[in-house]
Amino acid sequence: MTTTLITGANKGLGKETARLLVEAGHTVWVGARDKDRGTAAAAELGARFVQLDVTDDASVAAALATIAASGTGLDVVVNNAGIARRANGASMNEALDGPSVLDVFNTNAVGIVRVTQAALPLLQQSPNPVVVNISSALGSFWATHEPARPASHFVAIAYAASKAAVSMLTVQYANAHPGIKFNAVEPGITATELGGSDPGSHPGRPAIESARIVAKLASIGPDGPTGTFQEDAGELGW
Ligand SMILES: NC(=O)c1ccc[n+]([C@@H]2O[C@H](COP(=O)([O-])OP(=O)(O)OC[C@H]3O[C@@H](n4cnc5c(N)ncnc54)[C@H](OP(=O)(O)O)[C@@H]3O)[C@@H](O)[C@H]2O)c1
Repeated sequence: MTTTLITGANKGLGKETARLLVEAGHTVWVGARDKDRGTAAAAELGARFVQLDVTDDASVAAALATIAASGTGLDVVVNNAGIARRANGASMNEALDGPSVLDVFNTNAVGIVRVTQAALPLLQQSPNPVVVNISSALGSFWATHEPARPASHFVAIAYAASKAAVSMLTVQYANAHPGIKFNAVEPGITATELGGSDPGSHPGRPAIESARIVAKLASIGPDGPTGTFQEDAGELGW
């Protein structure tokens, strides 16, 4: 039995990834900062709820203590929680004042360090420990320089830089912990609250479609990759 924790799993990509992994037989912990939203999603999916705010050290410690005390163990962490400051239009209308940018980095990048550090003791007891970090093509130096890629035409100064940090965190953690598989995923442009669900401004695909690549990387076996950046079509340039 595989046990999986997904952060920010009360809606969007995280919730649909939880749905796919419950269907695949995982015991899934829906991590959510809001108790009501998280409990409702977990009940709908047949998952367990754990309160988890990735910007709050005490909340992260308590969440991992809850999982440890439950006896489920922990095999997979999907670091999915993320924020952007986005308005309509081809580019993000971001708030670029210091506190807003710190908030984006705190959630998208530092949150991954908080959750991963707290999860390491449980992951190290798993026979097949796996971490999936949700990055973005906007955080890829390759994709943002490739004219054929949407990421090269879309400006998102703080969000993209925070996702570049996610990618390097993935590489560094993969090097630091060879016994654990760490991979970054670009899920594709997706119609979620973060991505925007107005087809006129952001023609994203349904979250359940983007969740497939996340669920795939969350389900790799002992011979699976580590230290890679993946999308539907395979490996993506960093
Ligand atoms: N949508 C896209 O096109 C796209 C493309 C590439 C990558 N991504 C990435 O995919 C991931 C999921 O985003 P999404 O599109 O599914 O957006 P979403 O629907 O807005 O979901 C984001 C999730 O993160 C949670 N969250 C935000 N801050 C949190 C915190 N401090 N602690 C815990 N949870 C927190 C949200 O919880 P609340 O409900 O409490 O706010 C929500 O559950 C993000 O990392 C995003 O950057 C998205």
